[in-house]
Amino acid sequence: MHLGLTTAGESHGPALVAIVTGLPAGLTLEKDAIDADLRRRQEGYGRSPRQQIETDEVEVLAGLRHGRTLGTPLALVVRNRDHRNWTWGMNPWPPEGEPQGKGTKPVTLPRPGHADLAGVLKYGLDDVRDALERASARHTAAHVAAGGVAKALLRAIGVEVAGSVLEIGGSADFHAAIDEARAERDTLGGVVEVRANGVPPGLGSYASKDDRLDARLAAALMGIQAVKGVEVGDGFALARLKGSEAHDEIRPGLTRDTNRAGGIEAGVSNGQELVVRAAMKPLPTLMKPLGSVDLESGEEAQALVERSDVAAVEALAVVAEAAVAWELARAAREKFGGDAFQDFVAAHAAYLARIQWTR
Ligand SMILES: Cc1cc2nc3c(=O)[nH]c(=O)nc-3n(C[C@H](O)[C@H](O)[C@H](O)COP(=O)(O)O)c2cc1C
Repeated sequence: MHLGLTTAGESHGPALVAIVTGLPAGLTLEKDAIDADLRRRQEGYGRSPRQQIETDEVEVLAGLRHGRTLGTPLALVVRNRDHRNWTWGMNPWPPEGEPQGKGTKPVTLPRPGHADLAGVLKYGLDDVRDALERASARHTAAHVAAGGVAKALLRAIGVEVAGSVLEIGGSADFHAAIDEARAERDTLGGVVEVRANGVPPGLGSYASKDDRLDARLAAALMGIQAVKGVEVGDGFALARLKGSEAHDEIRPGLTRDTNRAGGIEAGVSNGQELVVRAAMKPLPTLMKPLGSVDLESGEEAQALVERSDVAAVEALAVVAEAAVAWELARAAREKFGGDAFQDFVAAHAAYLARIQWTR
């Protein structure tokens, strides 16, 4: 049984959409829990005023009845409230009447570090907006909604996933660092960590590289905008240790005193806590813009200035949590299968009984 996810939606278009396939029938979803994650994604010190316009909440168009999945494709929608200011500029159809609101003039000043230049060249566009609208991290809201579904599935087999911020702009004093960057009209990146408890041994596989859980988690995290580095367990620090210092010795009862591997050995979960980290670059939209070129004139220019976050590391922690939950749920569906929710739960229990895993 394979979990599938397709998302669609532009930053200032009418809505973001997620279609989730491969869910068992009978899984209970709670709107409040998904909405709480959507709100967490919007919060955080250093976000732009956009977050005050949007109050994200999930709408379900298909696949759910009375709060329980039907085993059919689940269609989730998160509306963009800000779209009301872009009804002309982001109209899916040729707009009628005089241009009004935002997004009425073509953008020709690509921002270094953003999708703008690559998108225009790759897709043959003459308005940078046609690239940036989808490349924007706004659609991570759709991934967070899908992650909420994954978390419900995982919770049923005792797996809890939580993301947190480790540092922003190299500092543990997040607010001070963000205040300073804002005053300098600059931006910051940072590091987030996601931990998952209760992951059974045996998710993922060493059989081929695409099956490896570490590879899949790395791809899931790297798939988030602005993530430029991922580590599993002690990651890069392991490269500086000796073999005798780097591994987690196995004790009677199959316990370990350490968890340097971050819960994965040979691409397979080993029953230890899963620990992954992601490094986020500073956001590329600067209020003090970097040098660029006007694509219309070919002349030197300054990059586009558009309403933007100073830092979005706290939001990344929520998006990364959703990405890890999604990958773990996908791996759990592959291992435990089941068309009915109770078959999925029973397969998990039978497996734990076979390997006599009591943690
Ligand atoms: C939650 C989140 C919020 C973001 N907010 C902004 C933002 O306000 N301004 C901006 O320039 N980039 C923002 N980004 C980063 C850009 O989307 C990203 O840098 C851009 O799409 C280019 O992709 P790349 O950085 O992966 O190369 C955000 C990323 C995330 C994960």
